[in-house]
Amino acid sequence: MARAWTVARLGAAVACGLLLAGTLGACGGTKTVTKTVTVVGTVPNGGATSVSASVAAGAHDFVQFACAQCHGERGRGGVSADVPALSQVGKQLTVAQLKQIIDHGLGESANPTKPYMPVWGQVISAHQVADLVAYLHAGLPSVPGATPPPVITAQGPAVEGALLYQRYGCVNCHGPNGLGGVPNPQSPDKAIPALSGADFFKEFNTDQKIIDVIRSGSVIGRAPIVSMPHWGGIIPDSQLRALVAYIKTLKTG
Ligand code: HEC
Ligand code: HEC
Repeated sequence: MARAWTVARLGAAVACGLLLAGTLGACGGTKTVTKTVTVVGTVPNGGATSVSASVAAGAHDFVQFACAQCHGERGRGGVSADVPALSQVGKQLTVAQLKQIIDHGLGESANPTKPYMPVWGQVISAHQVADLVAYLHAGLPSVPGATPPPVITAQGPAVEGALLYQRYGCVNCHGPNGLGGVPNPQSPDKAIPALSGADFFKEFNTDQKIIDVIRSGSVIGRAPIVSMPHWGGIIPDSQLRALVAYIKTLKTG
């Protein structure tokens, strides 16, 4: 499915360059024409101050759910060769297609070292998905404040890890302070697991075991079941160690 879209999009891109929907009739236009129409995306005056409330909310969601950590800030790519940039998808995919991809992912990768597009349907509300789609369709404009939390390394690994827990969006699935409780109705446990408490620390009793599951993920089923994403190739080793240092500060009993 993903491949078919990719091929279709590639075809469209070759035929039409970067022309906007409104100028599709000019597909055969020259390079000069292409350059003059690409900048503003589909939003009039697509700059920081003129976006709609939905687009602005989508930009914040894009940061909060860590889309930016895999797809790059404002979806510009460059994080991993396995994760596509999103600069063109808004022009190439419909609202329904984008919703489907965000809610259901694009198939969990069997290779634990490669990231896959996570299943978000249980975690991100329909309202938030609609905002994300509006943001993608607007060409991922710059929105004030929609930037990930900073990475601070000078205050010790637990502080760094706490910030990374927000930055990589772990908090959306595992809850504040790793307390869990996010529903995952069709999974065996009916919820996304806590990263705290006696059961967690009994099973994950070494740093290496925690690092391994963050890096390699754990696919427990297909959409709509939410699985643990593969973060290998996305989160560097030093940050994995910081995340573990933070997790080990959480409630053990
Ligand atoms: C853990 C990394 C990761 C995160 C986080 C992530 N994605 Fe993805 N995403 C991917 C990968 C990998 C693909 C390519 C999957 C494929 O083609 O099989 C992808 C594909 C996509 C596509 C389809 C792109 C195309 O060209 O076909 C869209 C749209 C998308 N992601 C949106 C999002 C949004 C919105 C978020 C945040 C809610 C998000 N992604 C979070 C890894 C990620
Ligand atoms: C899209 C939701 C989602 C996100 C985002 C996510 N996880 Fe997970 N995670 C899961 C699910 C679901 C499982 C359970 C997998 C299983 O049962 O095998 C899991 C399992 C784990 C486990 C093993 C716990 C256990 O009891 O099996 C650890 C540790 C973990 N995640 C850490 C993280 C960290 C750190 C981050 C951020 C870098 C993160 N997760 C981001 C969904 C998520």
